[in-house]
Amino acid sequence: MAEEHDAVEVIAVKRDRGELDDAQIDWVVDAYTRGVVADEQMSALAMAVVLNGMSRREVGRWTAAMIATGERLDFSGLSRRTVDKHSTGGVGDKITLPLAPLVASCGVAVPQLSGRGLGHTGGTLDKLESIPGWRAELSNEEMLHRLEEVGAVVCAAGAGLAPADRKLYALRDVTGTVESIPLIASSIMSKKIAEGTGALVLDVKVGSGAFMKRLDDARELARTMVELGADSDVTTVALLTDMSTPLGLAVGNALEVREAVEVLAGGGPDDVVRLTLALAREMLAAAGVDDLDPADRLRDGSAMNVWRRMVSAQGGDPDAELPVAPVTHTAAAGSSGVLTRLDALAVGVAAWRLGAGRARKEDPVSAGAGVALHAKPGDAVRAGQPLLTLHADDPGRFPRAMQALDGAFDIEPENTPYTPPPLVIERVAAGVP
Ligand code: URA
Repeated sequence: MAEEHDAVEVIAVKRDRGELDDAQIDWVVDAYTRGVVADEQMSALAMAVVLNGMSRREVGRWTAAMIATGERLDFSGLSRRTVDKHSTGGVGDKITLPLAPLVASCGVAVPQLSGRGLGHTGGTLDKLESIPGWRAELSNEEMLHRLEEVGAVVCAAGAGLAPADRKLYALRDVTGTVESIPLIASSIMSKKIAEGTGALVLDVKVGSGAFMKRLDDARELARTMVELGADSDVTTVALLTDMSTPLGLAVGNALEVREAVEVLAGGGPDDVVRLTLALAREMLAAAGVDDLDPADRLRDGSAMNVWRRMVSAQGGDPDAELPVAPVTHTAAAGSSGVLTRLDALAVGVAAWRLGAGRARKEDPVSAGAGVALHAKPGDAVRAGQPLLTLHADDPGRFPRAMQALDGAFDIEPENTPYTPPPLVIERVAAGVP
């Protein structure tokens, strides 16, 4: 059968800064998924979008066209309301691990379809897979069952959800076309809308360790995603949060699971606890629950109970010893004073080079590798005191990881005033200018 459009014509419209009409968008997204539009044609179009952008209408239509290439899950038969959270990715961002069981312990179901890490940001599934026995792959039926029984599921997104995005994201990854607000927004929101969640809270990271280094770009990304959610009747709210320094004191798969369990036990680093609670409050509000304080559920152990059931329901042993890397190397403070900067990107790249992340999507990750932080910006430090401990399976990993940390921190003289950046910078919701 003859195709209704021609790929070169569609590419030329965007190349020449024109707007694609609805029929062109529907066709190109569908034809790419069917293999009729070739990878080299889609990469040319993606690059034209990176350079020339998309109008609000185009992003909405592009998102809808990606959703239409696959299935849509339906949670309407569940007895609980559903709310999901998505983070645009950061260093030490283990928030999903305490957050999903915490929100579920307040009576709301959390379907969290997650990904694996690529580059310097870790993936939630890689972290959970460091728990002996835990498995990420669930059928749609198993997922619904776990949601009803336990209330929280973190699992791999099935191949049936927005297959256009799966194919396009892999292409963007190798053609320098990830960094585009319309492409990122449509990629994230097509998966979340197809997943069928009733409400969504976005954690849009800003700073050196994030996709969006500048506040203005993060704000635009957040606004675009919030509007896409509203168009599809998914109540969507975004928090812009700081990613100039790692979250918490642990970066790496098993290291982060250990820290998440500390938070669920009522302890853990202050920033991780605060961000978990801020996102939990937004998720509960978006699901219409306004009479519960999630902090109580961390204190009284109910979030921990859901965590244990959530891990066991997917084959994991919540009591198992987590893997520990066999070798460590310490980076010490060169002088005494106040730590005023500890760069998120540098720590993320170091953890990645230690084996916690992967360079290609088929690479394995090390469960034990990563970086443990012994001080955070604002802390007083003494010369010679350990600042970071590097963990790896093989000592050959240390030199390149140490290179990544070159210039990653500043120590200023004692009494230098230090004002921490706000953890939650801004809230973006539909209809709020
Ligand atoms: N995460 C996604 O799912 N898609 C993007 O384009 C970027 C980050």
